Amino acid sequence: DRVQDIHSEKVEKVKNMSFVFDIDGVLVHGDRLIPEGKKVLDMLNGDNELGIKIPHIFLTNGSGKPELARTEQLSKILQNPISTDQFIQSHTPMRALAEYYNTVLVVGGEGYKCREVAEEYGFKDIVVPNDIVAWDPSIAPYRVFTDEERATSRPRDFTKTNIEAIMVFSDSRDYATDMQIIVDLLRSENGRLGTVAKDPVSQRIPIYFSQGDLLCPTEHPTPRMSQGAFRIGLEAMYKALTGVDLERVVYGKPEMATYKYADEVIASWMEQIHGEEKIPQNIYMVGDNPASDIVGGNLYGWNTCLVRTGVFQGGENDEENPANFGVFANVWEAVTSACRKEL
Ligand code: G3P
Ligand code: MG
Repeated sequence: DRVQDIHSEKVEKVKNMSFVFDIDGVLVHGDRLIPEGKKVLDMLNGDNELGIKIPHIFLTNGSGKPELARTEQLSKILQNPISTDQFIQSHTPMRALAEYYNTVLVVGGEGYKCREVAEEYGFKDIVVPNDIVAWDPSIAPYRVFTDEERATSRPRDFTKTNIEAIMVFSDSRDYATDMQIIVDLLRSENGRLGTVAKDPVSQRIPIYFSQGDLLCPTEHPTPRMSQGAFRIGLEAMYKALTGVDLERVVYGKPEMATYKYADEVIASWMEQIHGEEKIPQNIYMVGDNPASDIVGGNLYGWNTCLVRTGVFQGGENDEENPANFGVFANVWEAVTSACRKEL
């Protein structure tokens, strides 16, 4: 009976726990598995002394693919099932914007994958920079436009279309073309190409960025510039050209809107796993980037664990944004410490 009591007590405690995982630098490096990542997911999916599932979600600043395609790819690498119901990419919360704008410019990503993402989010009329270059190649004077790109783009007379908002979903593959088109649109009258607004502010269309990371770790020895660097360049150009500051909205970690969204996803995922509604309490975020994962988690009141398998390569803890639960060699060390503390 005593053994039974301890078991039920632990099960109750586990029901109040959940984990939030960053992906790049915690579970994988690009397409390469971090072995402790698989070990942790095996454990949380039921391979533990209690034989029960411990809820966890994924919160990544990664972008550029539909959620289903990305979860299928990650499930293979991590050899564990990942549902889109427990998965948030940088642009996932931007789904909510589909009801506010009809025609949008979607920027970034490989090929036309971000058009696909936007379609799936319910955006009705999606324009990508290639559609505009195909209509008027002189808009991007240094661009070499291939026949294949021309064949797969959707040109129209953009002097007859109002683009209502700009959505930067993923990293730009061509800064010169994308920045030129974005600046043209920001300076136009209500998003109509070929016009220049008299007042740079009142007729300016809104611009949204899916995340703000300055740098991203890649195969290159030092991290590469990411969407945050692109945005800062754009802001500086816009200010120099118009004399006014560019107002913009940024999603992704460490923005609070993204953490709030994640909190709702945790609650509904916990309900799916445990079959009962609970307010998420003991949430542990495991991340490798103090400037996004950790600062956001700390501000949102989560327990934060910083791992040494990604961006952070410092000493005992990060000096500016220290993880409040501690620094760990890898995700396995972080998760098992959290379980020891809670159970
Ligand atoms: O910096 C962009 C992205 O690759 C970071 O992903 O999973 O570490 O938030 P993640
Ligand atoms: Mg990371």
